[in-house]
Amino acid sequence: MSISLRPVTESEWSGWMTVEEEAFGAAVPPHREKLFRGTTEFDRSLGAFEGDLLVGVTSVDSLTMTVPGGPIPVGGVTAVGVLPSHRRRGILSSLMTRQLADVRERGEAVTALYASEAAIYGRFGYGRAADSMFFTIPTSGTAFVRNAPADPALRLRVVRPDEARSVFEKIFETVRGDRPGLYERTPARWDVVLSDHEADQRGAGPLRAVVVEDDDGPRGYAIFRTKQSFTDHDVPDGEVRLRELYGLDPAAYALLWRHLLDRDLMSHVKASYRPSDDPLIHLLAEPRRLNAGWLDDLWIRLVDVERALAARRYSAPVDVVIEVEDTVCPWNARRWRLSADTSGARCTPTEDPADLTLPVAVLGAAYLGGRPLAAPQAAGVLRESRPGAVRELSTAMSWEPAPWGGLMF
Ligand SMILES: CC(C)(COP(=O)(O)OP(=O)(O)OC[C@H]1O[C@@H](n2cnc3c(N)ncnc32)[C@H](O)[C@@H]1OP(=O)(O)O)[C@@H](O)C(=O)NCCC(=O)NCCS
Repeated sequence: MSISLRPVTESEWSGWMTVEEEAFGAAVPPHREKLFRGTTEFDRSLGAFEGDLLVGVTSVDSLTMTVPGGPIPVGGVTAVGVLPSHRRRGILSSLMTRQLADVRERGEAVTALYASEAAIYGRFGYGRAADSMFFTIPTSGTAFVRNAPADPALRLRVVRPDEARSVFEKIFETVRGDRPGLYERTPARWDVVLSDHEADQRGAGPLRAVVVEDDDGPRGYAIFRTKQSFTDHDVPDGEVRLRELYGLDPAAYALLWRHLLDRDLMSHVKASYRPSDDPLIHLLAEPRRLNAGWLDDLWIRLVDVERALAARRYSAPVDVVIEVEDTVCPWNARRWRLSADTSGARCTPTEDPADLTLPVAVLGAAYLGGRPLAAPQAAGVLRESRPGAVRELSTAMSWEPAPWGGLMF
């Protein structure tokens, strides 16, 4: 039977849930289902149907994401799954191709996603644009460097997460524009951040939070869980599990971390999905105690190269002709002249000879500013025709701080 594609309607929600549960091999508890539904835009969903049976699905969340220079609309690709009975028949490929065409038609130039497996999305033109770190920090021996910032005006306040939501929202809104990858949070997205169902606790207690503030108001917050535990010899062995931590300035940031590392009866702090340039790395006198690992974070796809490259800002003036290879979105596959200076950027089609040639995924990986181009050049996936062109483009596209999505969608 042939497969047809169309948006999934609200009345087909249970079929959608069946696909998700079968594809991911896990039940979706009712509270998670409710949260997921709360962020779902049905008109931006896409189902693959065999007759009436939903066999594959994906959806897009309309995000406003920070890119170098400011926020732009970005399609947040989510909920990708294919029924195990129908895998490896090209269903994901047809969903991805159609979704990218829909996104372009809607006027969004960029899509982003988090990948369950890193091998899936490169073939569709997505590039690994950001990394995140995970830490398991033993609380002993975590002194800060001598010149760690401190502000005597700052104090800590223990708050109930459900009562301090507006404080969190305000602080997050202030920091969101600083880091490429962070995106605006709708109320439904905040419901996800603050979800505190017992099933989310995985052996730890309810969500806890602290706010740091001075006389003028809040300057940062941390949301976390604690898990009480003692060894067989009654030595405290508790765990702090960080959900998120944002500070408006270095002193607020340092105090929040100091608090997490100093809580009584806790032997270690676990923090996942931290930015790859987390300031904590520079605060700890012995950064090896982070026991850090890393993971791919956001993947970025330039759906419309012309508009995407013109939409961001650049760290240095640049004037290069880029030959883009793109079989999935053929409208991108041509030569583009990117010219940028401090007043803005222009990207226009050109017949001039290419200075460099690269797959669209490499451009997507570099888009948020955290992926220098020398490495893909050394790997042979990017070819330079004019000496110096790769360095010129790489320098111009680089940006600080490092990109990071902050919250999986
Ligand atoms: C990942 C998934 C969506 C792929 O769907 P699918 O319909 O089987 O994919 P397709 O048949 O269109 O595959 C297209 C290509 O990608 C490859 N591919 C698909 N899934 C892959 C994976 N997990 N790892 C590596 N390659 C993969 C296929 O081999 C195929 O390659 P080919 O073109 O060289 O033959 C599906 O297996 C699934 O639902 N997995 C579990 C849930 C999940 O991980 N979802 C992604 C969430 S981010």
